[in-house]
Amino acid sequence: MGDPSAARGRLHARRPRDDLLRPRGADGRGGRSARGADGATERRRPRHRRLRPGYDERRADARPVHRGRHVHRPNRRRDDAHRRYRLLHRLDVQTLDPVPVRHLGRGVRDEGRDREHGAEGGVDLGRARRPARDLSVAATRGAPTAQSGRVFVRRHRIAAVKLLATTNGGLESIAAAEICDLVDGDASVHHRGVLEFDADVEDVYELHYRSRTLHRLMAVVADGTVAELEDVYALTARSSIPDRLPNEEFGVVGTRHGSHEFTSVDVAERVGQATIDAYRDATGTRLPVDLDDPTVRLEAYLYDDRFTLAVDLTGESLHKRPYRICEHDAPVRATLAYSMLEIAGWTSDESLVDPMAGSATIPTEAALAATEAVPRPDLDPAFDALPGYDGERFRRLRDDHTEKSPTLDIEAREKRKRWRHCARVNREAAGVEDGFEIVEADAREASIDADCVVSNLPFGIRTGTDLRELYGAFVDRLREGDVGRLVALTTKPNLIPIEPTVRYDIPYGRLDAAIVVWEP
Ligand SMILES: C[S@@+](CC[C@H](N)C(=O)[O-])C[C@H]1O[C@@H](n2cnc3c(N)ncnc32)[C@H](O)[C@@H]1O
Repeated sequence: MGDPSAARGRLHARRPRDDLLRPRGADGRGGRSARGADGATERRRPRHRRLRPGYDERRADARPVHRGRHVHRPNRRRDDAHRRYRLLHRLDVQTLDPVPVRHLGRGVRDEGRDREHGAEGGVDLGRARRPARDLSVAATRGAPTAQSGRVFVRRHRIAAVKLLATTNGGLESIAAAEICDLVDGDASVHHRGVLEFDADVEDVYELHYRSRTLHRLMAVVADGTVAELEDVYALTARSSIPDRLPNEEFGVVGTRHGSHEFTSVDVAERVGQATIDAYRDATGTRLPVDLDDPTVRLEAYLYDDRFTLAVDLTGESLHKRPYRICEHDAPVRATLAYSMLEIAGWTSDESLVDPMAGSATIPTEAALAATEAVPRPDLDPAFDALPGYDGERFRRLRDDHTEKSPTLDIEAREKRKRWRHCARVNREAAGVEDGFEIVEADAREASIDADCVVSNLPFGIRTGTDLRELYGAFVDRLREGDVGRLVALTTKPNLIPIEPTVRYDIPYGRLDAAIVVWEP
């Protein structure tokens, strides 16, 4: 057997802890990367960030990053994919019309909300539908994947299923780019927070163990234009439902948007009746119904006159990462945290700091993405119960998936001891103890040098903090430091004294929030 280090590149010797007090040189990590005239990446000599006021190294409760175990491998193909992403984001912001805010009609379901930022796909109360837009221009076919760096040879696709995928509203372009990277899919917006694309069964498996931006996938069984409620019944009854469902308890969730003389409950009821009738006509069996905890969940969307019926493939939402053991008061949703890293264009060879990290969702997502760990290794997918899917094959593929061991330079800074403890608990649960440091630091005072600063800022509802003062002092530290780009999520973007280069408006529970991008 050959030397594994030779195959994986140079192993970094672990830096002694007191060595962290010295500035790191061109061959070390921690500085901001810069491009030379020949385009090669080199490390700029970083500033003495650990010796600056506000940064208390002795009180840092983190263990130093175990660099000995990690191997750093720059990934040019991955970098290319990120450059494409960045281009996409700029296009996205420039071409999408602002979303007019108006209240939705009666009967619209507020789907899957919880305390985390953003809503789980579905309906966004208080916002109107964003016009559907074909995002496929951004998705270069045959492109390398962002996460694996492997090049897709476009396989002959048997478009066995039309899929819907839910994601964070306002960040559909990020999810569409991921779908393109992972399975070469050409996704467009079905409605806010929901994408549609053609795929095959293998794609369903791959997305379920690799996607970091999606919440759930659904297979479309009926799609068409309707004028009245009975058209909903007729479309469902004519659909492929009898072939797609097992003889198991099912339930229907209706979501409606637009001006109709009936409610989403009426839609769900008509779909349910048509499903029972169609299944009985085809098989002679009456399907059992369970509205509380069905084995098979049907999603019925009526958006204006477009009716789409889909069967859930996922089960528990993919955003519910199993490492979230210790809950922050105001946690950011894991898929949103990962999307922010994508917006930043962060790559695993760049330094990353979250200066107000809370329970460290952003650093954890970064470390998991860099190691290519499966985000939901615990998932029992709903498609296991459906005809046409092979759950065993899915589990084999997932178990055979190999992780990487890059050297990482990620720091989670947090002022409060309670949340640093939470961050440590979650870091361990995620299995990325070596992936990032957890450090006590006050963002108003601590100096900051990093390629990327990605953070979910406090927004003041619970903290009562003077946000203008906090954001102002934090931005002063960014200006003084050596920072490549900032990506920040807040409900009060106007209090950040910067001119963002890009801004994504997203729902934040029932509030409006924005992700802003700034290059100091
Ligand atoms: C919105 S929360 C971040 C939540 C985190 N994204 C998560 O998922 O757990 C903002 C965090 O910033 C911290 N914070 C507030 N002011 C700070 C300061 N001046 N320096 C460092 N951290 C601060 C708060 O304690 C809180 O944990």
